[in-house]
Amino acid sequence: MSVTVIVGAQWGDEGKGKVVDMLTEGADVVARYGGGANAGHTLVVGGRKTVIRLVPSGILQPRPLCVLGPGMVIDPQVLRDELSSLAKLGVDTSAKRVLISENAHVVMPYHVLLDQLREAGRHAIGTTKRGIGPAYEDKVGRRGVRMGDLLDEETLRGRLSAALDAWSPTFASLASEVPPMEPIVQSYLEHGRALTSLIGDATGRLQDAVERDEIIVAEGAQGSLLDIDHGTYPFVTSSTVLASGAATGLGIGPTAIRAVVGITKAYATRVGAGPFPTELHDDVGERIRQRGGEFGSVTGRPRRCGWLDLVALRHAARLNGMSEMIMTKADVLEGLDVIRVCVAYEIDGVRSSRVPGRDLARVKPVFEELPGFSTPLGACRDAAALPQTVRRIVELAEQHTGVPVRWLSVGPEREQSVRLS
Ligand code: IMP
Repeated sequence: MSVTVIVGAQWGDEGKGKVVDMLTEGADVVARYGGGANAGHTLVVGGRKTVIRLVPSGILQPRPLCVLGPGMVIDPQVLRDELSSLAKLGVDTSAKRVLISENAHVVMPYHVLLDQLREAGRHAIGTTKRGIGPAYEDKVGRRGVRMGDLLDEETLRGRLSAALDAWSPTFASLASEVPPMEPIVQSYLEHGRALTSLIGDATGRLQDAVERDEIIVAEGAQGSLLDIDHGTYPFVTSSTVLASGAATGLGIGPTAIRAVVGITKAYATRVGAGPFPTELHDDVGERIRQRGGEFGSVTGRPRRCGWLDLVALRHAARLNGMSEMIMTKADVLEGLDVIRVCVAYEIDGVRSSRVPGRDLARVKPVFEELPGFSTPLGACRDAAALPQTVRRIVELAEQHTGVPVRWLSVGPEREQSVRLS
């Protein structure tokens, strides 16, 4: 068993990029199993910042093969831009380092357009407008274009024609026109030619890696509470975010998974609409947003900020079968007068430790209140030197989930991490 899955334990943006970078040292393969350019990690290379959306964060390590798995939806233009900005930073983006699954689905310009048109209407949910939902709709509707189809004009034309026919009434209802097919065929064949050396049988390569007991890290995108089946539906993304998605999204058996590492911040954030029981609407929320740099890396939207929610975290631990956790951004809480942690919900006056299947918007959080701390955490490397409040947050997280917190991240740099157990 050689696969470690890294999964967001909240609503995304938990700081997975840094963790993947830490945990992929020594890895042979790093693979993304779902989502698309709705994800975004800000990485710092040689003092220069770059945001990557599609290529796994392991690309900054010198060795691992970075796989874009069959469960993903890939916008080829975004991918090509990303590969060229990585190449400009001196990162090797040849076939030695990057493998795109021929079965990953392609995000088409009409997916992006549909996402934007819907988001401008009255059923908006606050998506990233990257075409993710419509691309997965085409996949499940069995008319999606896959990356391998960009290398085969006949198949590409057939799929495109089926998809455009199917979307035609939707375009009409959104007072828009179906985009003409020919320019799409030409530009997507060109994308295929440009990416041809990187497109291949990723599933076979991953299965070989499992058989050879290579070290494989499966990199989740978004967060557990945005999962299509188990998130706060309909305010979710359109893919399986959970660790179980690594098996289907890569084409390996679940028995290959050795460890599931859940990433949680020491507080909570969410972007887009949907219930968020511990949300702060006051100065404290604003302070966390500013200190934590809580603005979307894809859209720049200010993130909604709130206290750590241990009921939701326990739910995420159970949904994923987490074996360990890493807590990030504890330093952001420095200097607050009090810090709260949600330890239960109250629903119609009844206390509960469960996330309800529906009606999360109706729950009232029950908080444990902790004194603030002013010790600068960024320089701390020793668990014994952590303020009592920080230790209590970790202890509560472990008690509520039954999952050990292995590391506490106290700043953006790789070395700003405290080993806990
Ligand atoms: P979509 O994935 O763009 O369709 O957006 C659906 C929901 O997921 C929206 O609430 C987005 O804000 C949210 N979402 C998608 N990707 C991310 C992410 O990487 N971080 C945080 N939220 C995300």
